[in-house]
Amino acid sequence: MDAIDVIRAKRDGAELTPAQIDWAVAAYTRGEVAEEQMSALAMAILLNGMSRAEVSRWTQAMIDSGERMEWSALDRPTTDKHSTGGVGDKITLPLAPAVAACGAAVPQLSGRGLGHTGGTLDKLESIPGWRASLSTAEMLAVLRGTGAVVCAAGGGLAPADRKLYALRDVTGTVESIPLIASSIMSKKIAEGTGALVLDVKVGSGAFMKTAGDARELAETMVAIGADHGVRTVALLTAMDRPLGNAVGNAVEVAESVEVLAGGGPADVVELTVALGREMLAAAGMEGAKDPADALRDGSAMDVWNRMIAAQGGDPRAPLPVAREAHELTAPSSGVLTRLDAFGVGVAAWRLGAGRARKEDPVSFGAGIVCHAKPGDKVVAGQPLLSLYADDVARFPRALEALEGAVEIAEDGAADLPPLIIDRVS
Ligand code: URA
Repeated sequence: MDAIDVIRAKRDGAELTPAQIDWAVAAYTRGEVAEEQMSALAMAILLNGMSRAEVSRWTQAMIDSGERMEWSALDRPTTDKHSTGGVGDKITLPLAPAVAACGAAVPQLSGRGLGHTGGTLDKLESIPGWRASLSTAEMLAVLRGTGAVVCAAGGGLAPADRKLYALRDVTGTVESIPLIASSIMSKKIAEGTGALVLDVKVGSGAFMKTAGDARELAETMVAIGADHGVRTVALLTAMDRPLGNAVGNAVEVAESVEVLAGGGPADVVELTVALGREMLAAAGMEGAKDPADALRDGSAMDVWNRMIAAQGGDPRAPLPVAREAHELTAPSSGVLTRLDAFGVGVAAWRLGAGRARKEDPVSFGAGIVCHAKPGDKVVAGQPLLSLYADDVARFPRALEALEGAVEIAEDGAADLPPLIIDRVS
């Protein structure tokens, strides 16, 4: 097979054959297809798209580039959730223990934050002692003992995706729906979960800015899941405003613990419960305990404490606190009509909660706590946002990111999409 023939075929709008796809992905992973050839192919895919058969086969080829985990040794069904990423999205933290408390096993491989969206592993690493890297045998032991595990993916999982994602990042080819869908699904299917719920975020703070693009991504991923025998459903959820009140690392862990204790912000609770019910239904566990009850009766908190301790963390240890704080107050009275997720995400990132390059450390204490959310009445001078950083020099650029992110109308109402916009199955 010749890379140039495959590139020409896609460039000219032909459907790639299974043999062409298998060869291109495997040869690229082995280093036999050059980076410039794969970048031309990725651009041809971005411009001409892929059929369902092509995207499913591409996903399979990426799965086949590495190991595939499996959890048949467990005595309960496995189910997982993937979020396309947002601002204040700490849902995995209360969700995985809540679903485990309802009887399913949740083997979740998570990622770190890059850019303005946070990463679950960065948040959990703010818990003293907690360890993200586990062997497969350790994952199985934590799953057996607690019902849930959240850890980093090992290097053996879909190595083709790791190589291709790095290439897409520098060749303007990240924004291809078939390439995003196959990238996400290859890792989730290789993780070995039997059922999967996708939280596809929509809005300024999300990858997908419009509901139309988010629906197309969701439909593509649901189809890939079905083609690979993983029961998959997707919820399209709002990311025009931050989720919950806390944006950062330790501040999001603290908020998640409030939810696990039966309290916490209404939107975080609503989404945790909705995704939890979908995860149980996708795993064929419709009659199981309700995740809302698991949050109320302390059973989700019990799983959380055991899951954190099983990965070396001390769930009762004080969380890191930033050295410096700055308060942003309401400039006028009225209704908060806008709190832009992207602006708040960039501000938290500039405060040190996120990283600019993969190798950068994050500040666990940095972040933002919102004291009002869109739709709330505010009074001039009241605290709107608390900003936290380890160094006061970070505040001016964070405040710049917030310019225009906050709108208050003297009389009016916030025109917001619902938290759960749509469901795709
Ligand atoms: N997340 C992924 O894992 N892959 C993509 O291509 C985009 C987001």
